Amino acid sequence: MKKVFIETYGCQMNEYDTEIVKTILQQEDYEFTSEEKEADVVLLNTCSVRENANRKVYGRIHSIKHRRNGEPVMIGVLGCMSTNFRKQLLEDPKLPIDFVVGPDSYKRLPKILHDVEKTGEKGFDVTLSEFETYSDVYPTREKGVNAWIAVMRGCNNFCSFCVVPYTRGRERSRSPENIVDEVKRLADAGFSQVTLLGQNVNSYNYQGKSFAHLLTKVGQVNGIKRIRFTSPHPKDFPHDLLHVVADNPKVCKHIHLPLQAGSNRVLDLMRRTYTKKEYLHLVDDIRSHYEKMVLTTDIIVGFPTETDEEFEETFAVVDEVEYDSAFIFKYSQRRGTVAAKKYPDDVPEEVKTERIIRLNELQKQKSLKKNRAHIGQIHQILIEEETTKRSDKDVQGRNDGNKLVILPKGNLHVGQFVNARITDASANVLKGKVVHVPD
Ligand code: 5AD
Ligand code: SF4
Repeated sequence: MKKVFIETYGCQMNEYDTEIVKTILQQEDYEFTSEEKEADVVLLNTCSVRENANRKVYGRIHSIKHRRNGEPVMIGVLGCMSTNFRKQLLEDPKLPIDFVVGPDSYKRLPKILHDVEKTGEKGFDVTLSEFETYSDVYPTREKGVNAWIAVMRGCNNFCSFCVVPYTRGRERSRSPENIVDEVKRLADAGFSQVTLLGQNVNSYNYQGKSFAHLLTKVGQVNGIKRIRFTSPHPKDFPHDLLHVVADNPKVCKHIHLPLQAGSNRVLDLMRRTYTKKEYLHLVDDIRSHYEKMVLTTDIIVGFPTETDEEFEETFAVVDEVEYDSAFIFKYSQRRGTVAAKKYPDDVPEEVKTERIIRLNELQKQKSLKKNRAHIGQIHQILIEEETTKRSDKDVQGRNDGNKLVILPKGNLHVGQFVNARITDASANVLKGKVVHVPD
């Protein structure tokens, strides 16, 4: 048995892919170890969405080889960097990489590993597929409360800044029956929550079956208590989906709605295909269906040619919408994207920094205000961890809006649903006391 160590970067889809890779390799002569030092093969499942994600991986490759000090180890790069940077990864003589395998080629990993070992030559497969969904591979998951399930792969949107359509290829959806079967197995294995993943879940389409249909079907599985999903695209948020989220008690009352920018000109350059007005209208619509829907977002500051006035428009939208939280990024030029081909990365680094700091400060105030409004209310919490970062006398869980809640440990255990009164709040987390433990 060869030992494999895998490290995962980037988004939840990559976490899920790592679980797929584990199953594929365990079916052959490989076992996984959590100790890099004892591994015969080190895999890095990489992200390419921003430059600093890339940089981290290059740093890691050097440190692995350095630490192993001449002892033989095979190093393989998986994930989004593979598709986007195959040539550099394999041709740079200073990079000790043995193989590169893209997100649609994981079933070929055993063969590639075998060939590399036999021939000593570098191997690769970064072909993108129109069909691969790994629907026949049951992921090897860590024990816990939540299981990720990719319901679709790839993206057809081609937002001008984004490398994902190039690294992960075209959209394709798994069948609802196949997904529901997996959810049933998960419930039997003791998972109480599933998170359905897709680059743009609104585009989920399996022979005419929509994402709203899928959510409803997943909600009918006994044993699954909570369903989360990420992410929808604001350009085509369907009404039937809004109804399911608002009305189905198992579906988390949380919608991640990436804004990216608040100026129509910048949105147009980004190819987001909605205007500020349309976005704000959608927010109103969501809140008119479910007033307390938790809303979160992604924003990019310093997109090429973004002026101070245009940034102020983004600032104003954040001020108006009052998101519960936001991920804010500096624009990072990605090779091969439309933005990289058409526009120079001309907003100076200091300006990007200034904008991200201002927006983060505003968002922090909003998050605090939103969270403090919950004090005194009773929330239903699903316990996810038996300790917190700060204390082993507390447990942590999430409410149905996906907010982190800390509770005194008592007799609570992972997977339990409890009712708790919120007693305190910061910008990042709520604190509470249990008032009722249902049978
Ligand atoms: N630069 C900065 N942020 C980016 N994102 C995607 N591509 C880029 C880029 N080139 C952000 C978007 C997206 C999130 C997952 O990452 O905000 O929603
Ligand atoms: Fe990238 Fe846009 Fe697709 Fe999201 S929707 S993965 S931002 S291209």
